[in-house]
Amino acid sequence: MSKRERLDKILSNIGYGSRKDVKAYVKKGVVKVNNETVKDSSKKLNPYKDRIEIEGELIEYKEYIYLMMNKPDGVISSTYDNIHRTVIDLIDEGYKAFNPFPVGRLDKDTEGLLLISNDGKLAHNLLSPKKHIDKIYYVKIEGEVTTDDVLKMKEGVVIDKDYKTMPATLEIINSNKISEVYITIKEGKFHQVKKMFKTLGKEVIYLKRISMGSLKLDEKLLPGEYRELTQEELKLLKD
Ligand code: URA
Repeated sequence: MSKRERLDKILSNIGYGSRKDVKAYVKKGVVKVNNETVKDSSKKLNPYKDRIEIEGELIEYKEYIYLMMNKPDGVISSTYDNIHRTVIDLIDEGYKAFNPFPVGRLDKDTEGLLLISNDGKLAHNLLSPKKHIDKIYYVKIEGEVTTDDVLKMKEGVVIDKDYKTMPATLEIINSNKISEVYITIKEGKFHQVKKMFKTLGKEVIYLKRISMGSLKLDEKLLPGEYRELTQEELKLLKD
């Protein structure tokens, strides 16, 4: 946002309550714009250029937030659900004020990388089927995984009766009673990884997304933890 906006809208955007709340708050004389106390919340200013202080603290204005979460098992990837906990329930109130949403979905029992943001344009770009963004998953499979499975995944497999997936790359970490693999897919169909293995007669028993395009899960984040993207991560993601 580079144009001038009303002070009440700006403060409301960053979590100071409704416009009505903000109006009453600003009237108290606690807000300074460019070192002058402002009591009229309809005043227009540029939040990126003008200096806004609230109760003596300088505000760093931002329109968008970008959070990387290590999604835990048992939580659903949506903004609201009247039964289950959602990924949005796990984030601080300060971030919730930005009305963020999960960028794409992971199943309730899938863990790992989930981007949470209020930037619709970025979400659209990352999720667009035309963009073929690589998604890498770490998978545990019941039973052995063979080089024949690698070849079949490379050709694409049929899911949902008649949909042939795009080629996927399967890398076997180890093949045993419980096997571990990495799979890279370019689409994001509902339950795609589980369905692809089902087609090969195999069951996924654990699934964790570890990357999406250039964005890699920060392994320091425990399940349920999140952090803001760094400037570098954001730049790579937007490029
Ligand atoms: N594929 C799945 O089957 N589940 C997910 O959560 C993500 C990809």
